[in-house]
Amino acid sequence: MKKNHVLSQKIWNRTAKVGVIGLGYVGLPLACAAAKAGFSVTGFDVQPEKAAKVNRGESYIADVDQNDLKQVVSDKKLTATSCFDDLRRMDIAVICVPTPLDTHHQPDLSYVKGSAEDIALRLHRDMLVILESTTYPGTTQELVCPILEKSGLREGDDFFLAFSPERVDPGNSVYHTDNTPKVVGGMGKESGRLTSLFYRQILKGGVVSVSSPMTAEMEKLLENTYRHVNIALINEMSMLCDRMGIDIWEVIRAASTKPYGFQAFYPGPGLGGHCIPLDPFYLSWKAREYGFHTRLIETSGEINAGMPGYVVERLCRELNKRGKPVKGCRILLLGMSYKADIGDTRESPSLKVWQLLKQAGAELCYYDPYVPSVVIGGETVTGLKACTPQDLAALDAAVLCTAHRCFDGAMICRYCPLVFDTRNGFAGVKSQQKVCL
Ligand SMILES: NC(=O)c1ccc[n+]([C@@H]2O[C@H](COP(=O)([O-])OP(=O)(O)OC[C@H]3O[C@@H](n4cnc5c(N)ncnc54)[C@H](O)[C@@H]3O)[C@@H](O)[C@H]2O)c1
Repeated sequence: MKKNHVLSQKIWNRTAKVGVIGLGYVGLPLACAAAKAGFSVTGFDVQPEKAAKVNRGESYIADVDQNDLKQVVSDKKLTATSCFDDLRRMDIAVICVPTPLDTHHQPDLSYVKGSAEDIALRLHRDMLVILESTTYPGTTQELVCPILEKSGLREGDDFFLAFSPERVDPGNSVYHTDNTPKVVGGMGKESGRLTSLFYRQILKGGVVSVSSPMTAEMEKLLENTYRHVNIALINEMSMLCDRMGIDIWEVIRAASTKPYGFQAFYPGPGLGGHCIPLDPFYLSWKAREYGFHTRLIETSGEINAGMPGYVVERLCRELNKRGKPVKGCRILLLGMSYKADIGDTRESPSLKVWQLLKQAGAELCYYDPYVPSVVIGGETVTGLKACTPQDLAALDAAVLCTAHRCFDGAMICRYCPLVFDTRNGFAGVKSQQKVCL
């Protein structure tokens, strides 16, 4: 192994120039953390308006503190641009672009490929490239490395490449990019060593080195598939409990008293966000290349994808008990984001519940202080500015889709004739009007 003393030295003394490609939920916190650690950071994004906001010190990601961002921008430690030629000056380039599924539910790696091509055009000796986007095992080695090597430079001799998955949990008040352990898998030993050194300089959570990028890619998919499958299990249990007249929430509370061997997951209206509903399908797609069918992923996907429909069915049942057909009912959705206390609506099950209720002829409105407006099925819908007793009394039902802490459960259950709580978010409220998933 040939040690790269030049880059090591630059990382040690924090003079290495860091480029972060993609300034979203993953990239902006990372860019900020590296800048706070003293590195000179350039953020690259195809959306010039995002770059402009960063340069004005305006945070558009809730987990990035406005004052921290302002500080690193005014200290000239962080700038942002849409001019990818500046990549030439970078010693380290970290790719944090989206990895969605296409319309056929297959991995869409066009963003990762595009970023690798952007770097390849500007790749130089001693550069370190790190992929952070979640993807299937083999992407770094089979897709990114060959694109970079088209430059004529060789991985391990001329430049270095590693995969290091991001684990950020938006809205988590305890764990952030900064204090969560980072897994690193280098193409070779030197790539792994340089990448670990870089993250140790900027993050306090520690670094876990694994033997290859493929192992690191698989590790990330294990984490997310674990959640995907366990959420499906508890969703299935909740549907069975409903049939059997058992309270699933009481069951979970009791099971959670076991001090070992049980981790609580909670049922809900379905999966959302850019990770859990999508990432496991990167794995099932890749598994097919090996003649392997990932049955648990497929079955879990079916259960989770069916939850918005189940929520609507249960609501219709409750309305029916009150002699009301869903057609023409005035229904309020509480919470449009995919999880509590954030404004991210990507893949949110609330959107699916909305569409199903709309198809059934309901008159809909929503209230979500984190989501002033949202595009549903190509149409922009604006949320209510407030949720008053008068608004609630004029409804036929409200559905709690996302349990934002700011919702006043007692007031909502007092004035609304029917409240369907799909998250047990109003657990502390005793009311005849409330029904739980
Ligand atoms: N959001 C999460 O909670 C989370 C957590 C862990 C991992 N991840 C993974 O991290 C990756 C990024 O996710 P995200 O949530 O930050 O996405 P995001 O959509 O919030 O941000 C991605 C950014 O990349 C920009 N972009 C797209 N193509 C680009 C290109 N060619 N060059 C430069 N910029 C480009 C977009 O404009 C956007 O600002 C995904 O692979 C995701 O699965 C996300």
